[in-house]
Amino acid sequence: MKNAILMALLAMLATTAAQAADPMNGRQIYEMNCAVCHGVGGHPVLPSAPSFAKGERMMQPDTMLIDSIENGKNVMPGFFGILRRQEIRDVIAYLRTLHR
Ligand code: HEC
Repeated sequence: MKNAILMALLAMLATTAAQAADPMNGRQIYEMNCAVCHGVGGHPVLPSAPSFAKGERMMQPDTMLIDSIENGKNVMPGFFGILRRQEIRDVIAYLRTLHR
């Protein structure tokens, strides 16, 4: 009985901790920080940058994308300490809307 209450409380905590990603906020962050290279709408400006409009690199799970965005990759700078984890999640949610 006590266990059931504890489990219910833990489940509630888990759902509030994982705040839903907001692609509309992600769009603003993208246009300010990422569009210089990745282009508006995910059509790259920089030749070596992947095209999110074509869904390039987006086959990876969010955890791997977060890692690349926080730590950078080759020419791409890392955004650790610039964007918060939740903001990165919002940007990824936005990136996932670009492939059409
Ligand atoms: C200075 C240019 C530049 C900026 C600014 C930039 N990127 Fe990139 N990005 C690149 C390049 C170039 C690559 C390809 C890296 C490689 O694989 O060599 C890349 C790769 C990526 C990838 C694929 C990583 C992977 O693991 O394959 C993601 C996702 C990404 N960028 C997201 C973002 C986001 C989100 C932002 C803004 C917060 C951003 N980028 C800002 C140039 C940039």
